[in-house]
Amino acid sequence: MFNLEQFDIKLDTDIIGRNFIYCEEIESTNNFLLNSKEYNTEGTVLFAEYQTKGKGRKDRTWISNNAQNLTFSILLKESFIYSKPNVLNLASSMAVASSIENLFQLKTNLKWPNDVLVNEKKISGILLESVSTGKKMEKIVLGIGINVNQPSFQGKFNFTPTSIKQEYRKEVEREYLLSEVLNNLEELLFTAKDNPEKIINDWKNKSRFLGEKVKVQDGDNLKYGLFEEVDENGFMLLRTATALETIYCGDVSQL
Ligand code: BTN
Repeated sequence: MFNLEQFDIKLDTDIIGRNFIYCEEIESTNNFLLNSKEYNTEGTVLFAEYQTKGKGRKDRTWISNNAQNLTFSILLKESFIYSKPNVLNLASSMAVASSIENLFQLKTNLKWPNDVLVNEKKISGILLESVSTGKKMEKIVLGIGINVNQPSFQGKFNFTPTSIKQEYRKEVEREYLLSEVLNNLEELLFTAKDNPEKIINDWKNKSRFLGEKVKVQDGDNLKYGLFEEVDENGFMLLRTATALETIYCGDVSQL
């Protein structure tokens, strides 16, 4: 069982997680916050022990054992909405990565746009979704899944998964990890707003595949080239045989 007191004692944020909703089971924490009119306070964190329809990027599913991992979503509004949403993606993956490094001394890398890797395997995925009225973005829901104490993974994955337990060889306290992630996240989301160049530079230092030849898949669309840069908006610049292309989304893998 998740110990709320243990989590709360280490939470050191002003906004994120101050309104915390714990639930045993839900379809998808992202869907709930995206659609809810009632839970609309900025910084609300919705945490679920189990999701029956957990969503991944590109309409994939996010499957996570009951009560072993962290699956939660954060509602971001006026303080965090600004013109470079993809920098939020980079900042969020950095918050997860540095939390895992600080608490468990596991070396992490980042795979564009927002996967966290340990030993070349995916330990965390992030799904950023938003609701807009006309041109105005009303809210952003940042959904984070971290594989924590799950001992093994069954099924077919587009990138091999792993968990902290598999890499660290011990069960760990999900409560401390969650508070550490939220503490780091709040700080990095403010940095993303005030100093996006810093986020982009720090992200690049931890990047897996930057400067390498890669394959980028977006549905049926496949591109090959050199992952040359991350631009000022957090998008990927891919040097193909014919041009320098801006990549807005896609799955990056080694060529
Ligand atoms: C990905 O790597 O494809 C992104 C995975 C995001 C999973 C999280 S778990 C909490 C939140 N709720 C969801 O339905 N998805 C995100």
